[in-house]
Amino acid sequence: MPSILHVNASPRDAQSRSLALAETFLRALAEHAPAVEVTTLNLFERGALPEFGTAAAHAKMATFTGSEQTEEQRAAWADARAVFEQFANADGYVFNIPMWNAGVPYVLKQWIDIVTQPGWSFGFDPEIGYSGLLAGKKAVAIHTSGVFAPGVPAAFGSDFSVPFFEDWLRFVGVTDADHVRFAPTVLNQDPEETRRAAERRLHALVPDFGAHLAPLNA
Ligand SMILES: Cc1cc2nc3c(=O)[nH]c(=O)nc-3n(C[C@H](O)[C@H](O)[C@H](O)COP(=O)(O)O)c2cc1C
Repeated sequence: MPSILHVNASPRDAQSRSLALAETFLRALAEHAPAVEVTTLNLFERGALPEFGTAAAHAKMATFTGSEQTEEQRAAWADARAVFEQFANADGYVFNIPMWNAGVPYVLKQWIDIVTQPGWSFGFDPEIGYSGLLAGKKAVAIHTSGVFAPGVPAAFGSDFSVPFFEDWLRFVGVTDADHVRFAPTVLNQDPEETRRAAERRLHALVPDFGAHLAPLNA
């Protein structure tokens, strides 16, 4: 059965605008392609992610230098691998990402730092550079912000969130990705219409997303 990993990067549960839009998309997709399994990873849930600190960073560098990992480093590496496998085993991804201080929420960065490992999600060749290893996946990312919106004056903030996340998806090889923004900001004259526009855009993405998963069902 084709599977989707839904990564929820908002802690605001029922109040979350990005989560509401992700759920709208997933509901529409379930109607279109009922035989799809969805797993939600709530990044802010306590214990959702292992830490990626001293032992894990040494373990990572040991893979580059070819040196032996200590027992503690092997354990940290195995914890990271389990998170990576949940990511790699899915056929498609839905991300909902609030803008936090012009970037992504720290738990999303933590998840990215865990799953982005050499030989797992990317390769490196000194002559040609990096290559993403997660080919054949499809992603939809929903981005919300409360003040920033494309085209606002510089005093209303910057966006390092969407460019960073777009770049990271490409980096790991997820090149088939759509990004939908919802920015009902202070300068927005009609936030409700902006939300409906985001919903329309998400509904329009459903057939293509379903078609990507359909052959996996055969
Ligand atoms: C910690 C924090 C930092 C935020 N930083 C920004 C920001 O830099 N720019 C912005 O436009 N909105 C910012 N916001 C507003 C959120 O992006 C906005 O409320 C968004 O809708 C939240 O998504 P959610 O409803 O899915 O949680 C911030 C909100 C929080 C809680």
